[in-house]
Formats: sequence, structure tokens, C-alpha cells
Amino acid sequence: MTPNSFFSGSGRVRVFAATVGLIFVVAFVASAPAATNLPPADPQSAPTEISALRTELARHDRRYHQEAEPEIGDFDYDQLRQRLRSLEQAFPTVAAETSGLAEIGDDRTGRFKTYRHCERMLSLDKTYSESDLRAFHARLAHLLGREDLSYVIEPKFDGLAVSVTYERGRLVRAVTRGNGLEGEDITANVLMIRDLPRQLRATSDENPSNPIPEAIELRGEIYVSLAEFRRINEEQEAAGVRGFANPRNLAAGTIRQLDPKEVARRNLEIVFYGVGACRPETARPATQSELHARVRQWGLPGVANTWKARGADELLSAVAALGRGRATFAFPTDGAVAKLEPVASQRLAGETESAPRWAIAYKFAPERAQTRLKGIAIQVGRTGVLTPVAELEPVELAGSTVTRATLHNRDEITRRDVRIGDYVEIEKAGEIIPAIVSVNLARRSSSARAFVFPEACPECGTPAVQRPGEVAVRCPNRACPAQLRRRIEHFASKECVDLDGLGPATIDALADRGWVKDISDLYRLRLLDRTVLSKMTGKSVDHLLERIEASKHAELWRFVYGLGIPQVGAVAAKEAARRFGSLEALGAADLNGDSLNQAVARHFSEPRHRAELAGLIAVGVQPKGNSVAEAGASDRLAGKVFVLTGALPTLTRAQATEKIEAAGGKVADSVSKATSYVVAGKDPGAKLERAKALGVPTIDEAELVRLIKK
Ligand code: IVH
Repeated sequence: MTPNSFFSGSGRVRVFAATVGLIFVVAFVASAPAATNLPPADPQSAPTEISALRTELARHDRRYHQEAEPEIGDFDYDQLRQRLRSLEQAFPTVAAETSGLAEIGDDRTGRFKTYRHCERMLSLDKTYSESDLRAFHARLAHLLGREDLSYVIEPKFDGLAVSVTYERGRLVRAVTRGNGLEGEDITANVLMIRDLPRQLRATSDENPSNPIPEAIELRGEIYVSLAEFRRINEEQEAAGVRGFANPRNLAAGTIRQLDPKEVARRNLEIVFYGVGACRPETARPATQSELHARVRQWGLPGVANTWKARGADELLSAVAALGRGRATFAFPTDGAVAKLEPVASQRLAGETESAPRWAIAYKFAPERAQTRLKGIAIQVGRTGVLTPVAELEPVELAGSTVTRATLHNRDEITRRDVRIGDYVEIEKAGEIIPAIVSVNLARRSSSARAFVFPEACPECGTPAVQRPGEVAVRCPNRACPAQLRRRIEHFASKECVDLDGLGPATIDALADRGWVKDISDLYRLRLLDRTVLSKMTGKSVDHLLERIEASKHAELWRFVYGLGIPQVGAVAAKEAARRFGSLEALGAADLNGDSLNQAVARHFSEPRHRAELAGLIAVGVQPKGNSVAEAGASDRLAGKVFVLTGALPTLTRAQATEKIEAAGGKVADSVSKATSYVVAGKDPGAKLERAKALGVPTIDEAELVRLIKK
């Protein structure tokens, strides 16, 4: 554990809050919400049930916090917890005899250095009921002696809590919540988050009232956007590995990677919604809204979607408004958090062992529906993965009619014992894709029959295979028409080379006639008769042919991504484009090197893929260098190769790389004679030594910025 000296004296706030909390604890316990839906329990069975619930919850806690792979959803978990709490209240002696269960959970994994928070990191009390929200307000109103309390209502971000410390404006550390007192140091990984500045923006003329505290622990959440969740799951599926059940697991699993480079491959995001310790105390924002404003002024990502409310009725309507609005949020949210606005009132309200009394999380119960499983269809993906898709009797769920749900893979069907004809419960997992969560065995009829997973690809008849260590069952035939169509669809998509006009119907027409057998054939269409092509696709192909021709000079990474190399998504494709620089070099990748090199080399070791690549080169595809820069970027750094080492004062590594590339330069991993400049920050590594030995000039961040602007 690392001792902390910077914040010596920060304990004062905590002691004060805890003391105030103690004075009021009696009143709060007495008015705690009554347990709802409590099935009868008698003194005889209570001890067994309490102990069973504790064991079960401890397992779920471990799966959720340490392994980031929960077995059950939040709603079911919260129900179990609520049941335990009610039993413990109803049978206090039984509860006291057996050991308690920490309410706050513990996310420490033992894989990172631990660090003690200067101020405790609390959890939130949760509820699913409006009457509990009213009770929350009533308690505070009683305590503070007034009804018109003001609240801020924020989304409850569904990610992983983090405490980021800035000292004199500079990011020094990022720590997980851990057990609330001590978390794990994940600074190296957190620095890979693109939008997280290492340096707080200083007070300026327009912004004189936002001084930078000497030291501040900012509390927030690391999460992935819904779009990134979808993107990564598609990548996982293409790679034949199990996708993430929801965005939270993805964020939590990613931030625990031991290699920050792996973290950088996924676009994690961060948002700040709270303050832990702050020195001097006078620098602490006086209200929750002021905190939001100042976080943004410091240049940090703050909470954008907030509502304000005064009194209980407004509180309830604000929570409801957030509930309606959340369908449009780009980030995953599972509820609303209501917080008392003035920090002075928050202090008066204090905190319990695990949560503040001035805030509450209102969670939206996941919408579930029951319907009958009519059949299971097999979809063939672009890498040949056979995905079982449930065909359902149409049912309303979260505002839309659902007719299909994913069943993920063969094992999942066996594990859940799903049979055709069953009544199944479906839920929007991570609030996006409907998934089957359970089978209603009570309604199983004798005619329900087990699904026999096909031994062969339903599209081309090739025997299916399952590679060791993969959950996916695949069609190994790269020439499979279904795979070909999916591959072309992917290659033509906006994210890849963007061949607008090449939709599914045209692709089918071209593939059916055997005119497009691999991606390079698209570039040979020009040679065919336009009239025949137009007749065949039912529309003019002039625009399409122009687009195809123009795409020959799309950026290299778009081709790398478009070729559908297993395990190479958009982010890895950009890295590969930087590293290899040309189609020819990609084809010559060898198996030595990291996972990316190996994925590329393995792909092009197959003759069919080598032929596809050679075909592209032969038809004259000449991607625009390795640039991942935005259109309109400059070329001030064209031909210059930079190597970054050490921590730069304001830019993260990702931001510096982006700037260099936007100006036409390249960033390399290691120093060689070809290196133009080494950009050195604090604590540079051996790269600086090597630069000196090779006579490569060394510059600092300011110089780099000058070069870019020059
Ligand atoms: S405030 C002292 N605000 O929810 C108050 N937490 O279940 C501490 N969370 O541990 C938290 N969105 O990880 C707060 N707008 C928000 C939040 C939020 C998500 C998380 C946080 C917390 C957990 C409690």
C-alpha cells in the first residue's frame, strides 16, 4: 500500500460527516422503507435462508466486482439483496449470529498495487420504487427542517467507479473503489482514455472563478459508449470468442487488463460526478451543479444530462423525465441519481457505513417480457461464425415489437436448456439487444423439443468446426456464399471503404452470378458491361462504379479493417496501418511479434487471403499511406517519424499520436535511424538513451506543438 502524505489532515471532513451521521442514525433506521413482496419466512427456516442468501450474494459479488462476469442481472441481484436485508431485519438475532456481508462490495483483484483513498469512496442506496424516493425526500426534509429541498438528478452511469487525483492540476493517480477504503492503482490504464486530460485547464480571463485546487480526488465512472459496446461485441463474435454481456462488464474487464496497450484498443470513456478529498477545503464546489460546471471548466468530461428539482413532486417528475430521455443517451445508464444540491446540506445529512444519506439511486427495472420460442435460425457471419437466433412470437418490449433475440452460441442453448416451443423470458441486455434470460419451465409442454445444432453450414453444407478454446462454431469455407455476402457488406460499409450504393440486393445479384467472388472482384466490375450490370441490379451503376474507383485511394486502415481479419477491428486496423504502411507490407507480416502482428500474419498465411490481397494490388488499389488523419488535415509533418517517451505535461499519448498523424507524421514504437524526433516527457525510458546514442534529436511537448503549428 502506498502511503499518502499530500492530503494529511483530510480526515477531518470524514470525521465530521460520520459524527453527524451517528446522531441521526436512529431516525433513519426507524424510517427505512418496509420490505416489499416478502414471502413468509419462519424462525426455523430463516437461518438457512439467510446463510444461503449470503453465500449466494458473496458469489455474485465476486463475479461482478472481481471477475467482471456476473451470472445474473442487476435487477435479480438487487431482489436477492433486498430479501436478505428484510430477513436480517425480521430476524435480527439470527442475523447477528452469523457474519455479515459487506454492503459495498470489493473490486480488488490482487493484480494491481493497492492505494488508500484519502476520503472513503461510498456506494449509493438503491431503490426501484417511487415511494422510496418520497421516503428519501421526507427523511431529508425532516432532518433539514424544510420541504423545498433542491436536488440535481443525474444519470446513473453503468460502468466502474474510479477516483482520479489531480495535484496542482496534474493527474497523478487513478484508483478503483476497492472496498471503499482502499482500491487498486489503475493509473497506467486510465491514461489510455482519450478524453482524460493529464492537466486541468488553468484559470483564465473568461474563467477567473475556477482555481485549481492543490489536490483533489475527483470521483467518476469509467464506461464504454453503447456504440463502442456494439462494435467490440461484433469484433468478439468475428473472432469466435464470447461477447460481453453488457457495457459494464466490458468497461470493468478492460480497465483490469494488465497491458495498457490492450486498454488503448478499446475506446473507454470517463465522466466525473463527485469530489472526495479536496485541499484546500475552500476550493471545494459549494453545490452539486457548481461541481458539474467546474469539472467542465477544468477541461474534464462532466455530466451533461442533468435535471433540477425542488421538493418531492418535482424530484419524481425529474426522475421520470430522465427515464424517458435515457433512450437517447449514447452511454449505458441503469437509473437516475438524485443528489441534494448544497454541499452544506449534504454534510448535515451525513452518510451510513456504505452510502451517503444525501443521495439515492433510482434504478429502472429492466423491461422483460415472456413469449414463445417458435424456432431457432442459424445466421452465418462474415468470418463464418454460426450464430443461433431465436425466432419469437412477436412481443412488446421497451417500446418496440421484438421478434428475434440472440442466443449467442451452441453452448448457450445447452446451458439454458432452451427448447423450441418453450416460453422464454427476454430482456434487453445492456438495454440494447434482446436476449433470452430464462426459460419458464412451468409452462414447458411435452411437445417442446431440443434444438439440434447443425453439423454443417446451413448455407453451403461444409462441415462446421469448433476451434480449440473458442465457443463459436464456424463454417470453415471462406468461399461460402453467406460469408462472402457478409464480407462484402462489411467492406462496403461506412466504417470501411464506404461504397454507398452497394446494398444487400446488389451484393446478392453480383454474388449469385459469380461476378464477385472476393473483394478484389469489386474493382473488376468496371470491365463488365454497364447496361447488363444496370439491368441486373435494377438501377444505374454509374455512381457505384465511380465510388468503387475512387475508393482505391481510401486510407489504408479502412482496407485493413474491411478485409475482415479476425481480431482486427477498427482500432487495431489503424495500428496495423501505422505499423505496416502498405498492403504489400501487410502481406509480408511474420508471426514474430505481438498479438496484432500474429493476427495479420495468420490471416495472410492462407492462400485465399493472400490471393485476395494480391488481387487488390493488381487492380490498382493504392491506399492513402497509413494516415488515419481526418480529411482536411495538414501535411506539415509528412515524412517525419516520431517516437514518444515519458509522460508529456498536457497531452496523453493517444492525443499526441492523433495530433502528429493529423499533421501527416507517423508515430513509431522504437527509436531507429529512421526516427526524426523523440518527444520526451517526464521519466523518459531507455528510448531517450537510444536517441542520444543514434544522434536523433529530442524535443519536448511544447516544441512538438510548435512543429505542428508552424
Ligand atoms: S455518486 C457519494 N453519481 O453508482 C456518492 N455514482 O451504485 C457516490 N454511479 O459507486 C456516488 N453514476 O460507481 C454517483 N451520477 C452518479 C453515478 C454514480 C453511476 C455509480 C458509482 C457508485 C455506484 C453506486
